[in-house]
Amino acid sequence: MRLDKFLASSGLGSRSEIKNYIRKGFVTVNSETAKITDLNINPDTDEVCFKSERVVLSGDKYYILNKPAGYVCADTDDDSLTVLSLFPESMRDGLHTVGRLDKDTTGLLLLSTDGKFIHEMISPRRKVEKTYFVVCEKSVTDEDLLKLESGVDIGDDEITKPARTQRGAKDNEIFLTITEGRFHQVKRMLQVTCNKVIFLKRVSFGGVSLDESHLSEGEFRELTESEISILRKG
Ligand code: URA
Repeated sequence: MRLDKFLASSGLGSRSEIKNYIRKGFVTVNSETAKITDLNINPDTDEVCFKSERVVLSGDKYYILNKPAGYVCADTDDDSLTVLSLFPESMRDGLHTVGRLDKDTTGLLLLSTDGKFIHEMISPRRKVEKTYFVVCEKSVTDEDLLKLESGVDIGDDEITKPARTQRGAKDNEIFLTITEGRFHQVKRMLQVTCNKVIFLKRVSFGGVSLDESHLSEGEFRELTESEISILRKG
């Protein structure tokens, strides 16, 4: 296995960052400073270290799914299909969603076998930005946008954290970027402006965007090393 692929698969960073680390002499193979990125190593027998710390392959999986409506984000459900059912059975073991989308919400959903990664992505401390395309029943006024941006009282202990908005093509369509993940948050935020969400799609998560020309509804793919690195860096 190539050294740069090994290091990227272990979550150390993107290929270009890894190239840099190797150039700077941070990486050793069997105690010898590695000088080239395409060095071939044996992950089972060679001892690879980054800044003197042993690097191991995690074997964890990271996926992006374009969630269709009608699927629930749960490991099992008695009444509805789960998003895991969109994966072949052989791939489901240990796989969990990174947070949840409502059954009728579509779009970008991350899944992983890496519990630490999932925890980091949904931790409120990390303030990971999530952008939703929202279609409302009625027009959204400039005043509504200001309210949504500065924070609204959705009935929890605290008002919602500052958000960003952008208008869509129609006057009842907006893009809303939030850093929290409260239950039904977007729907409840719009409700405060006396409106109703009639369609909700997540279009980006932590700097990773949904590219629907390459990922149709119901399809998934592995995240690239650089996407994982973007997510990890926050
Ligand atoms: N906000 C909602 O109301 N629903 C979702 O699925 C995601 C965010």
